Amino acid sequence: MRKILLTGAAGFIGTNLVRTILEETDHEVVGLDKLTYAGRVENFEDIQTNSRFSLIEGDICDKTLVNKLARDCDTLVHLAAESHNDRGIEDPESFIQTNIYGTYVVLQAALAHNLRFHHVSTDEVYGSLGLETRDRFTASTPYAPTSPYSASKAGADHLVNAWFHSYGLPVTVSNCSNNYGPFQHVEKFIPRQITNILDGRKPKLYGDGQHVRDWIHVEDHCRAILDILERGRAGKTYLVGADGEATNADIVRMLLQHLGVEDLSVDYVGDRPGHDRRYSIDASTIRNELHWTPKHGNFNSGLATTISWYAENEEWWRPLKSKTENMYKRLGH
Ligand code: NAD
Ligand code: DAU
Repeated sequence: MRKILLTGAAGFIGTNLVRTILEETDHEVVGLDKLTYAGRVENFEDIQTNSRFSLIEGDICDKTLVNKLARDCDTLVHLAAESHNDRGIEDPESFIQTNIYGTYVVLQAALAHNLRFHHVSTDEVYGSLGLETRDRFTASTPYAPTSPYSASKAGADHLVNAWFHSYGLPVTVSNCSNNYGPFQHVEKFIPRQITNILDGRKPKLYGDGQHVRDWIHVEDHCRAILDILERGRAGKTYLVGADGEATNADIVRMLLQHLGVEDLSVDYVGDRPGHDRRYSIDASTIRNELHWTPKHGNFNSGLATTISWYAENEEWWRPLKSKTENMYKRLGH
C-alpha cells in the first residue's frame, strides 16, 4: 500500500487517476492542486468522504508546502502542468513556471524525503511526424518539441532523467498520446466539439482538418500509470498509446453521426501556429514488459460513452463553455 502525493489531482487525468486508484488499489492519495481554470474541486463531490483521499489547494512551486506534504508520503505522481497548447502560444509564462520550475520543486522534495517518483509527460516532446510516413514515436526518438507547451514538458522530462542519473532518485517517465474521456475541459478538441454540437453549433476544425492524433481513453492511461508505478524500472521511459490514430476531420464526422446530426458541415477556423501534423505511439515496450493492454480498444464506442457523459453532465461543463469560446474568438480559432 502506498501513500501517493498526486500533483494536478483536480484536472482531467488527475480526477480520473484518483478514481482509478481508489477503485483498484488500497493506496491513499493526497492531491495537491492550484485549482487554476483547469482544476475543479467539484469533481470530487461524490468521494469527498473517502478516508483514503484528501485534496490540498496549493502551488507546486511553493517549496515549503510541497516539502511538508512530501514528508508524509512515499510516492509522488507528477501530473500538475499547464496543458493546453493554444494558451501556451498566447502566453507561455505560466508554462515555464509550472512545467519547468514546478517540476524542479517536486523533484527536490521527492529527493529530500526518499519518494518513488513518476512523471506524467506527453508524446508532443518528440515533435511532428509526416502524414505520408508510417513512423511512430519510441523512447529513442530524439526530442524535437515545437510549442511552448511541448518544450516546457521536454524540459521537465530532462530534469526528471537528470535527477535519476545525478542523484539516484528512483524515477519513471511516461509519454502518453492524446487522452479523451470524462472530466476533460471543453477547451480540448473532443469535448469542445461535443459541446458545440449539443449547443447546436458547428464543430471547429483547425487548418485543413487532416492533422492526426493518436487517441487513448483516459482510464487506459491511468491503468498504465499504475502499472508503471508497480512494475516499471527506475530510470526508464514508457510510451503509452492505444493505436488510436485518426484525423480531426474523421473524429468530427464520428461525433456528428453519434449525435444524429444530419447537416454534416463544419467551420474551418484559423490554424494553430506551428501545428504538429501527426503523432503516433509505438507502445510495444509497456505492452511487452509490463503486460499493459488498453481496455477501451474500440475508439468509436469510447467516443459514444464520452458523448453520453457530456450529455448527462451539462452542469459540469456549462460554466466553462462561454469563457472558453470567448478565448477562441480572441485567438481566431
Ligand atoms: P489539465 O489541464 O486538465 O489539469 C492540470 C491540473 O494541474 C489542473 O487541475 C491544474 O489546476 C493543476 N495545476 C496547474 N498548475 C499548477 C500548479 N502550479 N500547482 C499545482 N497544480 C497546478 O491537464 P491534464 O490533461 O489532466 O494533464 C495532466 C498531465 O498529463 C499534464 O502533465 C500533461 O502534460 C500530461 N498529459 C496529458 C495528456 C492529455 O491528452 N490530456 C496526454 C499526455 C500527457
Ligand atoms: O498528445 C498529447 C497532448 O494532447 C497533451 O500533452 C496535451 O496536454 C493535450 O492538450 C493534447 O494536445 P493537442 O494540442 O493535441 O490537443 P487539442 O485537444 O488542443 O487538439 C487536438 C487536435 O485538434 C489538434 O490537431 C488541434 C485540433 N483542434 C483543436 C481544437 C481545440 C481543432 O481542429 N479544433 C479545435 O477546436
